[in-house]
Amino acid sequence: MGDFTADWLALREAADARSRDRGLLRLLETWAPERSGLSVLDLGCGSGANLRALAPYLGVGQRWTAVDHDPALLARLPAQLSGAGWSATLETRCADLGGFDWPAADLVTASALLDLVSERWLEDLIRRHPGAPFYFALSIDGRVELAPPHAADGPVLDAFAADLRGSKGLGQALGGEAPARAEDLLREAGYQVATAASDWNLGREDAALAEAWLSGVTAAGEVQKQVEKSVVTNWLSSRLEDLEEGRLGLRVGHRDLLALPLSG
Ligand SMILES: C[S@@+](CC[C@H](N)C(=O)[O-])C[C@H]1O[C@@H](n2cnc3c(N)ncnc32)[C@H](O)[C@@H]1O
Repeated sequence: MGDFTADWLALREAADARSRDRGLLRLLETWAPERSGLSVLDLGCGSGANLRALAPYLGVGQRWTAVDHDPALLARLPAQLSGAGWSATLETRCADLGGFDWPAADLVTASALLDLVSERWLEDLIRRHPGAPFYFALSIDGRVELAPPHAADGPVLDAFAADLRGSKGLGQALGGEAPARAEDLLREAGYQVATAASDWNLGREDAALAEAWLSGVTAAGEVQKQVEKSVVTNWLSSRLEDLEEGRLGLRVGHRDLLALPLSG
């Protein structure tokens, strides 16, 4: 999970797409036609899942700048895309998000990124794009619900939450605090902010994603450090057995956020 391989991003894309809040997407769709040739900045774009999910709501003539520090992921992005009623050209930038060296845009967006960044980074981002709308999808909000209960859920998930707060290269990560802090900072900056849950609710048909998520939890540095190895191993095999037997319920809390400037 910490390594954003193309395989991991591909595995999560379908669950992400169906989990995004449709109400916020419709708000964006209503906002977009007032702008022609919309410029969009996608931060931490990976292999382009945010673009594929969002572009169909933003009309014709979109110009995307997609930023990521992983050239292998960027290489997967096409130069242009289109569908019924929408078209987009795409320029990729291979850059570290710590640099802030990217163009102004009509819309600033990111998906599955905010939990990795620090509060300071987020404040800088908002300050550097005064008046630009922000759409942040699928930020982890720290909630994890697992059924049936297991005695080691508490220690394993607490250690995992601590791991999410560790630095991922952009200062101390917001982890599960990300959606609430983003909402507060944007309101303080004068935005009208709407948020909605976009939880992963993983069932039997998502077995590969659930297995990768469970394995990622047990591989997290803080879990390995804080929880006895035999407890972690037992927890994982028990959870994989639940999954295999079709009795695992797994909800991973995420939130979407749309911030529009009050003036329009
Ligand atoms: C969880 S993935 C999300 C990718 C994509 N937005 C999606 O929804 O599939 C986080 C992305 O942020 C990128 N990333 C993380 N830290 C970065 C940094 N410091 N500079 C640039 N990109 C970064 C990773 O390479 C990865 O592609």
